[in-house]
Amino acid sequence: MKLLVTGIAGFIGSHVGERLVRRGDTVVGLDNFDPFYDRAIKERNLAFLREHAEVLEGDVTDRACLDRLLARGGFDAVVHLAALAGVRPSLRAPWRYNLVNVVGTSHVAESMLAHGVGRLVFASSSSVYGNNTLVPYEESQRVDAPASPYAVSKRAGELLLDTMTALFGLTATCLRYFTVYGPRQRPEMAIHKFARLILRGEPVTVYGDGTSSRDYTYVDDIVDGTVAALDRAPSGFSIFNLGGTRPVALAELVARVGKALHVEPSLVHEPSQPGDVAHTWANTARAERELGYVPQVGLEEGLARFAEWLRRDEAAQDPPR
Ligand SMILES: NC(=O)c1ccc[n+]([C@@H]2O[C@H](COP(=O)([O-])OP(=O)(O)OC[C@H]3O[C@@H](n4cnc5c(N)ncnc54)[C@H](O)[C@@H]3O)[C@@H](O)[C@H]2O)c1
Repeated sequence: MKLLVTGIAGFIGSHVGERLVRRGDTVVGLDNFDPFYDRAIKERNLAFLREHAEVLEGDVTDRACLDRLLARGGFDAVVHLAALAGVRPSLRAPWRYNLVNVVGTSHVAESMLAHGVGRLVFASSSSVYGNNTLVPYEESQRVDAPASPYAVSKRAGELLLDTMTALFGLTATCLRYFTVYGPRQRPEMAIHKFARLILRGEPVTVYGDGTSSRDYTYVDDIVDGTVAALDRAPSGFSIFNLGGTRPVALAELVARVGKALHVEPSLVHEPSQPGDVAHTWANTARAERELGYVPQVGLEEGLARFAEWLRRDEAAQDPPR
């Protein structure tokens, strides 16, 4: 297949791109190297893909850029991962999140329609469930009370694609990723941030009383689900949860990150942050049934792999003199 992957320089995009190349697909990647985190990190994410795929610098809010790219022809599908990610920063600039995550998604879908590309896989998020109390979360649940501008932007993306699918015959598959971790994880996310603090002997700030919980999903499982969506998702509009299915409380997570690094963490407590939700937990029965998705990597194994990568990454950044 020939595929466009947006957000290819990011954490998940670089893993998805790599898997697709390794199985023989032709990958063209697009990323604007948004300064949300350091470009040097994104360049390191691309180490393999710079050699084996075409990576272009461009913005999904720039319709002309997308048109030039898709007008080349021959694309079978688009994996649209480019976005402003992260709940807390979205409170500071809701309009930017809507511009990139909603208008950008509209441009991607419109450009696809204009150039005859019929299949779109879209990165949505568990955050669309807001503070729903019925767990584990199922795709059929009502999701009309998102708790942050980021969550709003992801839900709006889903709604837009649902309508465009019905009106214009696109196939759009929305994947609700549940807190993804693993090598190259975004530096501001829990696990990555905690691990660097623990290695430096600095305290980890725990917001709330430590009982909030997340369904952490190892990145290889997310890649499996994303590739399966490309290959197997039904035509028309669909939504799938992709989670690890075993939520872990925040205090326990910090302890387990410390264990993986063989360092005892110290904690400081702060009040819960606005926009954060209390719990996430995926029911993945639909993804299992229709995509064959079954998460394979438990937290202990995933944290061990992450810790190994982190130590290598730290050594590469700070070579011995
Ligand atoms: N990491 C998670 O736990 C998680 C959970 C749920 C959903 N998601 C979604 O998965 C996708 C990938 O997330 P990630 O964690 O890899 O984030 P990331 O920030 O590492 O990757 C996103 C990439 O998109 C690029 N980008 C941002 N704005 C762009 C624009 N206007 N045009 C082109 N490229 C642009 C960034 O430069 C970045 O490389 C996002 O859509 C995110 O919302 C991630």
